[in-house]
This record gives sequence, structure tokens and C-alpha cells, in this order.
Amino acid sequence: MKQVARQARAEERPAGFVPTMGALHEGHLSLVRAALAECRPVIVSIFVNPTQFGPQEDFQKYPRTLEADRKRLEEAGVDYLFAPEIAEMYPQGFRTWVNVEGLSDRLEGRVRPGHFRGVTTVVLKLLSIVQPQKAFFGRKDAQQARLIQQMARDLHLDSEIIVCPIVREPDGLAMSSRNAYLNPDERCAATVLYHALDGARRSMERGERDALRLVAAMREVMRAEPLAQPDYVELVDAETLEPVTRLRGTCLALLAARIGTVRLIDNLLIEERDGTFLATI
Ligand code: PAJ
Repeated sequence: MKQVARQARAEERPAGFVPTMGALHEGHLSLVRAALAECRPVIVSIFVNPTQFGPQEDFQKYPRTLEADRKRLEEAGVDYLFAPEIAEMYPQGFRTWVNVEGLSDRLEGRVRPGHFRGVTTVVLKLLSIVQPQKAFFGRKDAQQARLIQQMARDLHLDSEIIVCPIVREPDGLAMSSRNAYLNPDERCAATVLYHALDGARRSMERGERDALRLVAAMREVMRAEPLAQPDYVELVDAETLEPVTRLRGTCLALLAARIGTVRLIDNLLIEERDGTFLATI
């Protein structure tokens, strides 16, 4: 992989990179298409990264569909698939970790201790192997994208971090490899995350600027769904990830809930431009 990437750099072609854990869906493919629109070669990695899963989490049962993924990437026009083994990424004696302090222990990081240390470490490793001009991430994992941007800035990485929109199912559920775990009742209940965020978007469009009231209304929507167990419902500043009391600048409404045993996350981006607010779900 390093040799291929070195070759692309020598030919002065801007390489694009899309890191994934596989079980590819339209969300992943939207990143691939964004990369293909700007870069060549486009490199996709598939690596179910053990260090970002907690001991009680779904590392063992995480869906692995490498052959189907390979076909979809080939059809999409991807140039290289990088699918390393665990022993290549974490050989015996591995002991260097990257941690984005402050941002990594809030929200997802509070519920999943150590998760983001695993994410930023593997993403830095992948970026140093591939050294792409541009690396593409989804806003579906907004906190992850924020941490990776901070890491790239703090460590002077040469890769530009590009964050792409959330791809949703027709009923609003954000696409996720973990949606495959949902049984039919849970699949139905899972749209509650979207409905809570969409409700906040609509009341914001009617002029609501009070973050606490927006959060309370989202919690109310979540509470009405008996199959949903919320982990957090927060409205935060997009830069610091600190809770806000009033909408100002760029904010994120972030939700996490367990639907049965399946943990799902979703978010709404709220941007202030010249005094008007624009919400992107
Ligand atoms: P994974 O969950 O496979 O996601 C890979 C990329 O696809 C991430 O940038 C994620 O935000 C994006 N993505 C997932 N669902 C999406 C959707 N519905 N719409 C838009 N983008 C979506 O995130 C990871 O893997 C890992 O943590 C990784 C960054 C690869 C490090 O191991």
C-alpha cells in the first residue's frame, strides 16, 4: 500500500482516501463518489479496528462482508482496496496511541471509554500509510469527524479532511452497518432518532433559539418510543463540543440511543450565517 501511494505521489496525482470498517452501504459509497469526483487514485480501506471496540462491544459480531464490498468498490470505480490484517496493523509490541484530549471523553467518548483513542490511532496509522491529499469522512459520525480534523491540525498532517453529508434511508434512519442488527420492530422504532432531530429542525425554523428547550423537546420525542433507551441528547458547539444554552455560530444536536441491544447515533448540523440559521439533517 505504501508503495502504491508513493507511486501516486511521484506522478503528482492527488490521491483520495476513504477509511471504513466495511459492510458497505450507500453512506460509504457517497464518500467514495465524493472522492472519485476530486481525486485519482481513490483508495478505500476496510479494517474492523479492534482497538475502538470496548470489551463488551460488538467487535466479534461486527458484520464482515469483504467479498461483496470488494465487488461494490470495483463497480464504483475505486482504484485500490486496502484490507490489512490485524497483525499488520497491530504487530506484537505495538505501544503508541493518539488521543485528542478533551474532545475524546465527551458524548460518545463518555459512554464508550477508549473508543476515540482507538479511532484516532488507527486513522493516523492509515493516513501515514496512504498519505492522501484528501481523506473523506461522514458527518454521520460528527464527533469522530471533529476529532480527526483536530488531530490533522494538531499533528500538521498533509491530508485535507473532508466531511460529507449524512445519507439516510427513505424513512429518515441514518444508514449504518449496525442497522443490520435491528429486528423488524426495532427497525421501525429506530426512526425515532431522526424524528427527534427533525422536530428540533422544524422548531428552529419556526424561530426557537433556546437550546435547552430544543433538547427538552428531543428528549420528549425519544421518551415516547418504548424501545429506545437514550444515552445522551445534547446540543453543543461544533468546535468545542461543549453544551450551549442558545444557538450561536455552528452547533450540533447529537443523539445516541440503544434500540433493543443496538446502539445508534445521529445528529443535526445547525449553522448561523448572517444572523439566519440553517439546519442540515
Ligand atoms: P465506518 O462506520 O465503516 O464508517 C466509515 C465512514 O463512513 C465514516 O467516515 C462514517 O462517518 C461514514 N458513514 C457511515 N455511515 C454514513 C452515512 N449514513 N452517511 C454518510 N457517511 C457515513 O467510522 C468508521 O467506520 C471507523 O471509525 C473508521 C473511521 C474507519 C476508523 O476505524
